[in-house]
Amino acid sequence: MKKYILKDYEEMSSKAADIVTSQIKNNPNSVLGLATGSTPEGMYKHLVQRHKDGEISFKDIVTFNLDEYYGLSSDHPQSYRYFMEDHLLYHVDIDPDNVHIPDGLTKDIPEMCKNYDQLIEEAGQIDLQILGIGINGHIGFNEPGEKFVKGTHLVDLTDDTLDANSRFFKSDEQVPARAITMGVGSILNAKSIILLASGKNKADAIKMAFEGPITPQVPASILQLHPDVTLIVDEEAGSKIKGEKNE
Ligand code: PGA
Repeated sequence: MKKYILKDYEEMSSKAADIVTSQIKNNPNSVLGLATGSTPEGMYKHLVQRHKDGEISFKDIVTFNLDEYYGLSSDHPQSYRYFMEDHLLYHVDIDPDNVHIPDGLTKDIPEMCKNYDQLIEEAGQIDLQILGIGINGHIGFNEPGEKFVKGTHLVDLTDDTLDANSRFFKSDEQVPARAITMGVGSILNAKSIILLASGKNKADAIKMAFEGPITPQVPASILQLHPDVTLIVDEEAGSKIKGEKNE
């Protein structure tokens, strides 16, 4: 595993954007696995800027998002599709047909999940998967549990996650209790993975995931089995793991 422990959120964001930029330049047809949340916002800002500066094009890029709230329509301001449009998709030259985000309003969950996995497979697997991490060690919305789940599936969100997500909603009752997430199988199938984390409240999750046992109780710990993971953390999130700070 490569590891970057960087000064702050800004350095984390620009390092992550550098890796995505190289991926796009090396392979303009790349399949990217995208994440939502506060953590990758800075990275998307850089990518939009680099697109505006003419450095990168998304014209032939294909994307698959990790997850979506169950029950929120795509135009709900807290839906992950809305987030992606707002932070990246509307600002770059991506072909809307190449954008994939689980349908939060699907009437047939098993069918939608099966199709999602099939589309990823047909796209030739994900070249670069971007991940954040929950304070409970989740990746996507793969929550701590008794076993790792391979494919896309519906999950009941844990209290930790509901609590963390509530900051974006007017009241706790409005926080969706379920979500659709890519499984750890699809994540592990990605050719390369970057995981970003920032802030003190992520330090324990980073330590458990990368220096603890591999266990479904800490879903991110399965990344220890992947041959090409790059961890990009700021000093606070990296404060409990071994390693020198990178300049
Ligand atoms: P955050 O969420 O980036 O908003 O902290 C990350 C996650 O829960 O995976």
